[in-house]
Amino acid sequence: MKLVRTRQELAEIVTQWQREGEAIGLVPTMGSLHEGHLTLVRALDGKATRRIVTIFVNPIQFNNPDDFQLYPRGLDGDEALLAQTGLVDILYAPDETQIYPPGFSTRISVSGPDRMLCGADRPGHFDGVATIVNKLFMQTRADIAAFGEKDYQQLCVIRRMVTDLDLPITILPVPTVREADHLALSSRNKRLTPAQREQATHLPQALMNCLTALKAGKPASVSLEQCAQTLKEAGFTVHYLELRSEKSLAPVQKAKANTRLFVAASLGDIRLIDNMPVA
Ligand code: PAJ
Repeated sequence: MKLVRTRQELAEIVTQWQREGEAIGLVPTMGSLHEGHLTLVRALDGKATRRIVTIFVNPIQFNNPDDFQLYPRGLDGDEALLAQTGLVDILYAPDETQIYPPGFSTRISVSGPDRMLCGADRPGHFDGVATIVNKLFMQTRADIAAFGEKDYQQLCVIRRMVTDLDLPITILPVPTVREADHLALSSRNKRLTPAQREQATHLPQALMNCLTALKAGKPASVSLEQCAQTLKEAGFTVHYLELRSEKSLAPVQKAKANTRLFVAASLGDIRLIDNMPVA
């Protein structure tokens, strides 16, 4: 695995790969890697002949400067973890100069899926995500890119952008990887205190209980209200808890196939998100 720090070096390597007819696979990340990210890398096995993982903590997708500053970083550990998989050809870890030239003033805005759920209380977040992901698609010239269902709305935004802008890339969705107690793996989990980590287990548990109630025929409004109450009692601030269509992300009143529960809730200043399919 080669560590590449500049756009130019990356361009030279991918130009050569394209000449040789390689199929380029991409996993964009913000680092602080865990098993969820590695599962995305493995998902490309057999689907790409060359694999690039990118690590870039993207300032323009953070609404809050403190959140950006506090985002966990550790390139050496990440590099070692990726090298161990034996599946990565390039780790591309550019600094800001390689991504945002002086005077940078373009944004990609995917209206629709970006205005609801996380988009409502994080204005501009998905514009920042769409813009960086598009730039990484361009810089790596990837044929296929893997994204986690953990960030389901992000996956929807990226799919919409790819369709709308005719981007020549395949998007590969990967199911959420969880801890033994079902907490979804997340780089932010590293910021939880031991006590908060124990509290955090209530998030997936409450979602699973809610799904059980929905499947038993309990009305969605009642199930969701009870679930939100459980989370509040467990110490969470609930930002949203909603049942939505998997395809359009539109609100739905009744649990059925192709619907999903979506939640964002905070413990202290740490915001956790999760989602689970009804079917
Ligand atoms: P990051 O949070 O580092 O996540 C990188 C990728 O890993 C995303 O596709 C995310 O959905 C996936 N991922 C994270 N936790 C996962 C889990 N527990 N199971 C499965 N997949 C998981 O998402 C971002 O970075 C950024 O917004 C990015 C797309 C890189 C743009 O800056």
